[in-house]
Amino acid sequence: MITMKDFIAEVDPRLREASQEVTFPLNDEEKTLIEEMRTFLINSQTPEIAEEYGLRAGVGVAAPQLGINKQIFAVYLTELDEDGEVVDVIIDEIFINPKITRHSVKQAALPEGEGCLSVRRAVPGLVPRPRRVTLTYQDPEGDEYEVKLRDYEAIVVQHELDHLKGILFYDHINDENPWQADDNTVVL
Ligand code: NI
Repeated sequence: MITMKDFIAEVDPRLREASQEVTFPLNDEEKTLIEEMRTFLINSQTPEIAEEYGLRAGVGVAAPQLGINKQIFAVYLTELDEDGEVVDVIIDEIFINPKITRHSVKQAALPEGEGCLSVRRAVPGLVPRPRRVTLTYQDPEGDEYEVKLRDYEAIVVQHELDHLKGILFYDHINDENPWQADDNTVVL
């Protein structure tokens, strides 16, 4: 099972590489990897398991974060009620060879900024990203999909897709005015 020790350090050059496209059918190693990535996300969001194994909660994980430079990321995103119980699964998907084919000019950013399982420190500041995106990707069978995402979901997917290009969230933060949104950016 994947735990925090499997995440390569922030300074590891593999986090800054462009990842390779994946070919189908997936090999056994790739199949195991995607299962483990999804399980990690679920474990990380399950308080008892997260505490036992010291997992930081995450909604997405990309293969390069584990030192594997392939175009694969997993997202597991749920809606919780006031008691922290899962009421809905919003995204439970493995994205392979993803591409953004359209994006809005308008940008959005999370009011609290972003964090990353590969970055073991807080880096404060708004991370502006296109507010709406159209994404194409393949699932583990190689079937192709197109989805339209906006706001938080679009931000999560773009954060993970950045990992496949060697980009980290703080690359998008304005150094001089980290919390200053420009006229084109909505703070959600
Ligand atoms: Ni990240």
